[in-house]
Amino acid sequence: MPLRYLVTGCAGFIAARTVERLLDEGHEVVGLDNLNDAYSPLLKRWRLDRLRAQPNFQFHAIDLSDVGQLAEFGGTHRPSEPYAAVLHLAARSGVRASVANPQAYLATNVVGTQNMLDFCRDQRVGKLVLASSSSVYGSASRIPYREEADISLPASPYAASKVGAEVLSHAAHVVHGLDVSVLRFFTVYGPAGRPDMSVYRFMRAIDSGQPLTVYGDGSQSRDFTFVDDIASGVLAALRPVGYRTFNLGGDAPSSVRELIQQLEKILGKPAQVIHEAPHPADVPATWACIDRARRELDWAPKVTIDEGLQQTFAWYQQERDWAKAIEN
Ligand code: UGA
Repeated sequence: MPLRYLVTGCAGFIAARTVERLLDEGHEVVGLDNLNDAYSPLLKRWRLDRLRAQPNFQFHAIDLSDVGQLAEFGGTHRPSEPYAAVLHLAARSGVRASVANPQAYLATNVVGTQNMLDFCRDQRVGKLVLASSSSVYGSASRIPYREEADISLPASPYAASKVGAEVLSHAAHVVHGLDVSVLRFFTVYGPAGRPDMSVYRFMRAIDSGQPLTVYGDGSQSRDFTFVDDIASGVLAALRPVGYRTFNLGGDAPSSVRELIQQLEKILGKPAQVIHEAPHPADVPATWACIDRARRELDWAPKVTIDEGLQQTFAWYQQERDWAKAIEN
């Protein structure tokens, strides 16, 4: 049966892909985004234009951290039936950038999340899917990360703001009975991915023969996860769970050095690597234990890093003419 969903951050990387999947399944989607310039709005516009070309999609330019804007939207666009779920995928993202500008992270990820929780209460929404991050595990957690690990020692303002979003949504679950799936995403990459992240930066640099920067010696590893697998996980998490946290990770970590080697092979060009000091907000390694998502959401990643990088580069080649103007 077609349902109506509200998706925040719909011009963002993960949300735009998830909205496409919901529309493909015949649902209606109302998307919110403030189209900020945390990274190139050109890419956000590109994703949004594709969604706006579809009849079952409606867009509203709203800043979630502004409670007045959200209340006005809620008052003027109240659907006859409550939304089937709110997919709260909007975030100020980026581990290293959060060190320079923590206030923006608190405004969007903490205040914005509370505003969405209040919105759910006011609009009688029963289900929330919340985007969280592998970064909540900090530097001290043992890999593979398990959902029950202590998350009270984050290593960056971004990670701390995501812990804040998680615990606020738990409070809303207790107080208002909101059913919440918290999803901890692990370094997501893919076509139209974030230009401030390693895969995009490295791919663009190698393609154009420019040097790329590696923080530290490149031995740090990430459990890179392809965006289509993440979108499948978000849809699987729409089921009722009470309050439950799930890791969504590729379960096959690669070091930064290995990532660069793989991109060199796919692009058929050598990378020129410049090393800088390790970044203090970077954790040495991430790796998701995905037993819970397998068991309870019937989810598993399907796309290997090699296939995923090939698809990402195929997108870049096709869109290169305008995409090369994207700075971060
Ligand atoms: C990413 C996202 O930026 C976060 O939004 C997300 O929440 C997080 O994944 C997560 O999984 O929780 P990060 O792991 O830092 O954060 O992702 P990348 O930007 O792709 O960086 C991966 C590694 O490459 C890091 O160790 C970083 O230091 C390194 N890197 C990145 C470089 O050496 N050079 C660069 O130019 C970029």
